[in-house]
This record gives sequence, C-alpha cells and structure tokens, in this order.
Amino acid sequence: MAHPSSYLNTAVEAVTRAGEMMMARVGHDDVRVDKKGAIDLVTEVDVQVERMFRALIAERFPDHAILAEEMGGAHEVPAGPCWVFDPIDGTTNFAHGLPIFCASLALEIDGVAEIGAVFDPTRKELFTAVRGGGAFLNGRPLRVSSAADLVDAMLVTGFPYDVHQRVDEIVGLFAQFVGRARAVRRLGSAAIDLCYVAAGRMDAFWESDLKPWDIAAGALIVAEAGGTVTNLAGEPFQSRGGHVLASNGLLHDPMLEVIREFRGRRLS
Ligand code: IPD
Ligand code: CA
Ligand code: CA
Repeated sequence: MAHPSSYLNTAVEAVTRAGEMMMARVGHDDVRVDKKGAIDLVTEVDVQVERMFRALIAERFPDHAILAEEMGGAHEVPAGPCWVFDPIDGTTNFAHGLPIFCASLALEIDGVAEIGAVFDPTRKELFTAVRGGGAFLNGRPLRVSSAADLVDAMLVTGFPYDVHQRVDEIVGLFAQFVGRARAVRRLGSAAIDLCYVAAGRMDAFWESDLKPWDIAAGALIVAEAGGTVTNLAGEPFQSRGGHVLASNGLLHDPMLEVIREFRGRRLS
C-alpha cells in the first residue's frame, strides 16, 4: 500500500483543485442549478468537481473505492481504502453566491478515516489531518477551545434537507441550545462547522441526518485537534451513522445531557 503522505498529497490536490473550480464559477448568473428535492440543490459545478475528483483517483489509485455525493458509490463500508468526497459542501450557499463552502475529502480504510482534507477556497484555508498525526490549518497545528460551560460557548449546527417535515424537532433542540449557550450559529457547511470546532473558533457542533461525505473528513480533523466526536447519544462516531456531536471535549457531557432531556420530553 502507498505511503500515507502520498494519500495526503492526493487529498490536498483534489480539494484545492475543487476550490479553484468553485471560485471560477461562484456568483456567475449562468451556473446551472437543479433541484434534487424541494430545497436540496445541485449545481453544474458540483458535478464537474466530482468528475475531476473521480478521474484523479482512477488515475492514481484505480483499485480504491469511492463514495461521493453526486454519483454515489460505496454506501456500505467496503474492505480496504475508500475515498469519501463532497465536491461542494455548502451547495445552497454556493448557489446563492454566499462565500461559505468547501470541498471535503476523507480516505477511510476499512471504515476508519486515516486522512482528512477540507479546503475553503474563499478564505484559502486548508484543514488537514492524518490519523495519529494531529490536525493543521495551512500547516499550523490546530487545537480545540477550552470553553467549559455552555453559557461561555459558541455552538454551530445545521438543518437537514427534510427539515420541512421535522421543524418542531429540529428547531426544538436548537431552542434548547439557544437558551443555554453564548451564541448558536448556522453556517450551511457541516465540513466547515467541524473544522471550526477543530480550530477553536466554535466550541461544539451538532447535527442529525448528515451523509458520510459531509462529516468523514471533519470528524477526523476535530479528533486530531483534541476534540471529542460521537453520535447524538454519545456512542462512537461512524461516518455512515449521520448523527454528530463534535466538541472541545469539555462541553460533550453537558450537551449530551441537553439532547437526552429534550428527547426524553418529546417521547413522554
Ligand atoms: C449540507 C451542508 C449543510 C448541512 C446539510 C448538508 P451540501 O451539505 O453541510 O450545512 O446542514 O445537512 O446536507 O448539500 O451543501 O453538500
Ligand atoms: Ca455536504
Ligand atoms: Ca455537497
């Protein structure tokens, strides 16, 4: 098997090329936008970026599996290497010309993320991690924040595309955190949300019903920056599980408690 550094180089090349393709087209009136659902968009750039990425992996690592948003692939965890890619995370922002979007790529081996790379082309911020080797922003080491109380914490979350069918549940939990935290943000890119937890800009992130390509890279980056990543019940994180709580570690138990209480009340 190739050396991890050649995987990281490929991951960085893929996400930076993706970023260049996004910046060449963002804000242009003639970008084609289609609907995958009532509020779930795909632009021609999402598809072009994914094609570029698939060609790159096919050339470098033809026997590796791929799971990516627009053309699918390995939905079940395959044995061996699998590249998990979101060509644009923050497509709604991208389609509206709002400069909060990125490309997100993880290499999983037997379902465990070994490499993560997220590139925000607007700010030229490249977040990377290799399992066991720490997390970095443009080469500088990252560390999660030290906020220990919710009242001192800035949290971030996102809403799934079926939110119209689940407004009470999604906004209900949102309200619980709004009522306890210093601030709650909603940026529109789960991969950036996770990287901001890793960088200590946000203290924690939660969201349900995400896809592996939204979270595989960012979860590794948070863990390698010293944070804690689980599902919303506190169980071990799995990229195909979809439900994520990522924190600086100190806020993890208090946030799990808020989620537990909220869910208990809804069921009773
Ligand atoms: C979405 C973003 C958003 C999150 C959604 C995701 P997309 O990904 O990460 O922040 O709230 O749940 O689906 O569609 O922009 O790749
Ligand atoms: Ca996404
Ligand atoms: Ca996407």
